Amino acid sequence: MTSLLVAVLLTWTLMSPALAFVPVGGGTSTHVSITGTALLQKVAETCRAVADAAGHEFKPTGSSPGELVQACLGPTAPGDVSGAKFHAALQEIYTQNGLVDRDFVNSPPHHFNSEAFLEGRGLITEGVVAIKANIQKENFKAARETLGRVLHTLQDFYSHSNWVELGYTEPYVNLIRPDLPLENLADVNTPTCSDCANRKCPNQILPNILNEKKLTSGYMGIFSSQKPKGKCSHGGESDLTSTKVPRGGISKDERRSDNKEFHDAAVNAAVAASLQLLEDIRLAVGNHDFLRMMGIARSSVVCFVIDTTGSMSDDIEAARSIMYKIIDSKKGTQDEPSEYILVPFNDPEFGPMIRTTDADKIKREISKLKATGGGDTPEMCLSGLQLALTGAPSSSNIYVFTDATAKDIALKDTIIALMRSTKSTVSFFVTARSRRRRSLASSSFGDYNDLALASGGQAIQVSKSQLPQATDIILDTSTSALVTVLQRAAVAGQETFPFALDESLKNITIYITGTSLTFTLTNPAGVTQTDTEASGKLGTINTVGNLRRIRLYADKQSGTWQINIKSSQPYTLKVTGQSTITFIYDFVEKFAGPHSGYAVLSGRPRADQPATLMLSVIGRKGPTSTTIQEVGLVTMSGPEVVTNGTMTDMGNGEILVTVAAVPEGEFVLILKGTDTLSNSEFQRQSTTQMSVSKVNIQAAVESSVEPGETFKLPFSVMTQGEGGIYTISARNDRNFPMSYPNTLSLLSGEYANATLTITPTADTESGTDVTLTIDAKSSSGVDSNYAVLRLSVVNKITDFIPPKCEVTTVVANCPHDVSKCGPFQWELSANFTDENGTGIQSISLIQGNGNFTHTALNASIVQAYYSASCCSQIVEIVAVDKAGNVGKCYHSIIRSHSFPVTTLSLPLWLCLLASMFVVRH
Ligand SMILES: *[C@@H]1O[C@H](CO)[C@@H](O)[C@H](O)[C@H]1NC(C)=O
Ligand SMILES: *[C@@H]1O[C@H](CO)[C@@H](O)[C@H](O)[C@H]1NC(C)=O
Ligand SMILES: *[C@@H]1O[C@H](CO)[C@@H](O)[C@H](O)[C@H]1NC(C)=O
Ligand SMILES: *[C@@H]1O[C@H](CO)[C@@H](O)[C@H](O)[C@H]1NC(C)=O
Ligand SMILES: *[C@@H]1O[C@H](CO)[C@@H](O)[C@H](O)[C@H]1NC(C)=O
Ligand SMILES: *[C@@H]1O[C@H](CO)[C@@H](O)[C@H](O)[C@H]1NC(C)=O
Ligand SMILES: *[C@@H]1O[C@H](CO)[C@@H](O)[C@H](O)[C@H]1NC(C)=O
Repeated sequence: MTSLLVAVLLTWTLMSPALAFVPVGGGTSTHVSITGTALLQKVAETCRAVADAAGHEFKPTGSSPGELVQACLGPTAPGDVSGAKFHAALQEIYTQNGLVDRDFVNSPPHHFNSEAFLEGRGLITEGVVAIKANIQKENFKAARETLGRVLHTLQDFYSHSNWVELGYTEPYVNLIRPDLPLENLADVNTPTCSDCANRKCPNQILPNILNEKKLTSGYMGIFSSQKPKGKCSHGGESDLTSTKVPRGGISKDERRSDNKEFHDAAVNAAVAASLQLLEDIRLAVGNHDFLRMMGIARSSVVCFVIDTTGSMSDDIEAARSIMYKIIDSKKGTQDEPSEYILVPFNDPEFGPMIRTTDADKIKREISKLKATGGGDTPEMCLSGLQLALTGAPSSSNIYVFTDATAKDIALKDTIIALMRSTKSTVSFFVTARSRRRRSLASSSFGDYNDLALASGGQAIQVSKSQLPQATDIILDTSTSALVTVLQRAAVAGQETFPFALDESLKNITIYITGTSLTFTLTNPAGVTQTDTEASGKLGTINTVGNLRRIRLYADKQSGTWQINIKSSQPYTLKVTGQSTITFIYDFVEKFAGPHSGYAVLSGRPRADQPATLMLSVIGRKGPTSTTIQEVGLVTMSGPEVVTNGTMTDMGNGEILVTVAAVPEGEFVLILKGTDTLSNSEFQRQSTTQMSVSKVNIQAAVESSVEPGETFKLPFSVMTQGEGGIYTISARNDRNFPMSYPNTLSLLSGEYANATLTITPTADTESGTDVTLTIDAKSSSGVDSNYAVLRLSVVNKITDFIPPKCEVTTVVANCPHDVSKCGPFQWELSANFTDENGTGIQSISLIQGNGNFTHTALNASIVQAYYSASCCSQIVEIVAVDKAGNVGKCYHSIIRSHSFPVTTLSLPLWLCLLASMFVVRH
């Protein structure tokens, strides 16, 4: 076990989980700690394997996500890497895990309650198939969400069944092996428990059930006390069946004096089972994509949405040039983009989205873009942007290049909903067309301005000839550790904005967009620079079009700076820099039930109650290296209004912030604290604008959908405001046909129910995800809210048989004395088959550092050949079929004392994951 892991495990042990198998909450640990332990261990293992293969050492400097990510990406590349994406990926998985207790509270299969073993395993199987398909299509968010839910169900098995009472300490591997039977299940007529009058019995399982090793689980009744005769109950306050003989309950959700051995055994088995499931996914998708799914990649992503109509050739050239500049100048650094996304749009076409990790490929693609077509009409700008917002990872910086108004402005609400839900920042480079009658109408520029502001981006208006100078702003944001210190939108007038620059900040840039303004910048020592000094005492100032970019010198002074701006027009101000001190946040709402918790809101927070949000501050050495003084919501525009939140430490680096008085209108989050490493005060701000709403939409996607099948999504809408007719509009980013009521009649305070149906076309590729936005608006247009949902399209899989491996020959004339292994070699041949299956997709060496080759994968028998030095004694080969089933071949030439290898005639290898504990009669 690595020191990292010890540290992580220790953290959780110290937090002393009084509860487990409950979702997040109150610092007590939980499904979160079980999931977290397994994820961090598997990530560390994967990072180590990747480092080994690349020939460098995996040596994190500590256990914080940032340090883990930095070590995992390779210690040599210069530059800072923020752990925010990894942290956010973990939170996403935890949140979805917890939501199973809200969305499926009364569904026995989701919790392995009420002996729903086959159905429970069915959910795991369906989920794992979807996760693998999603990862293959690079839909990592969808994969994480399903992973969280599947892990919940898998973990619940150990708490809710009698597995540990039967004496097993290892996981029941058949739960993740759909090709293996679930055996020896107690049938519905078999009594399984004895009565427990005082509800505190160490073991209620009947002796014959224990002797025959029959598997059972507790019945759970939230609304009814009915259960079959003689059956165990889940137990606990909310389980009505627990009062019916046999009374009591066998759930090991909580650690009590009477069940602590079983509880601990269940937690251990649940961690081990989670690890097995993660290993299966990792082997199926490979180390690289497994880490990307976990948010471990350089966080810089370049995403361009480009108008390709006739007048755009200069703009396309400017975009191409900055793309090349980013690729060439960041190569080999931590700021090198991990992904490139390009969405062209024209009229009336848009897309497809080109998404690649290959810099050469994106260079080719952007060079291929030609300005053609497009009449005198506006273009499909927002449709292109919609694809980029749903395709790019969350918190990306997206740049739109256009010289015309958007024809599809009806998408504006959908775009704002997507910006809010992805927290991506969108900036526009709008150039004026040469032909006069097509020049930009100021009202349409206003639309781009609104969108940019809502996401925390900028709307930059320049002439075509100036555009190349303006695009340097893209270079600034192509970094793996971008943070925002301050952002404001202001009306005409004079105002002073103070902001704290901490020691950790590098490459500080101040952007002001607006016309007719003057400013004075002052550092903590009182040194000033005005807008007329292009190269002054504090930094350099570039002005192009409506954008001013002020680059502070590298030796900037830490402390409180201020900028005084005088303008006769509205303007925006933004201060950014690079730092590993950052934060992630989500607006959440508490949910009740037997296992209460917090759910991330998919729409705007409710107007009639305090706003709550879950915040994680990521310091240079993890959450402990910062202290937080102040968290509040601050208005973006108009006079500054800050409302402070109260903080509750939830453990695990998470802080629950409750803001009683939410500002009116659009607001962002502001955070002030101290970096304890440098004892320097820092300030950070979120970029995405938010506001509260009286309207609330409830909807949850419960499963994946097959291509060509119709999916039904029930949703309900409620308003705290005035009742009446509300307009419903829904959109999806794949243009799949949908049907839903266009209006709902709402009574104040009451949910109205409706159903949306969506039908993915029959040729949709498995693993595709669909982002669905539902919007509800009052007839006056004053009240509205939205929900953003993801749906995975996954083929029904019938092949669950993993490829088979047979070792055909082993020649190992290795010396007895291992220290003399140097000059000797051994070799192994194996045949891989996937009889009756989908066929082998990949074969790879995952352990052993010898030479490895195999024959063509499309033959019915694939021959693999391995040769290695006698010093490398273990080989492990993995074959994955097209359905994602994983077959393994393991061979060791390590001599055991009793069986020298040379005398072993039995091939000592293990094909497939051994099923270690099969329940038998
Ligand atoms: C950031 O600053 C460092 C020095 O402080 C400099 O080497 C680097 O080029 C800068 N990065 C960008 C994108 O300007
Ligand atoms: C918010 O909290 C900070 C720090 O505790 C305090 O200085 C500030 O005055 C508070 N602001 C408001 C509006 O209460
Ligand atoms: C809407 O559905 C919920 C359950 O999903 C139900 O409790 C409620 O009564 C329904 N409301 C109406 C108006 O039908
Ligand atoms: C392995 O595959 C080769 C090529 O198909 C075949 O000739 C050989 O008989 C196979 N060996 C075993 C033991 O099945
Ligand atoms: C493949 O299918 C055939 C015919 O149904 C069957 O006899 C054979 O056992 C199957 N092989 C495997 C490995 O399932
Ligand atoms: C396998 O693929 C190769 C080329 O990739 C092709 O030449 C060969 O015919 C294929 N064999 C079979 C059995 O399909
Ligand atoms: C692996 O291949 C290389 C080059 O083909 C060869 O020099 C080396 O001896 C091989 N190693 C083993 C262990 O077979």
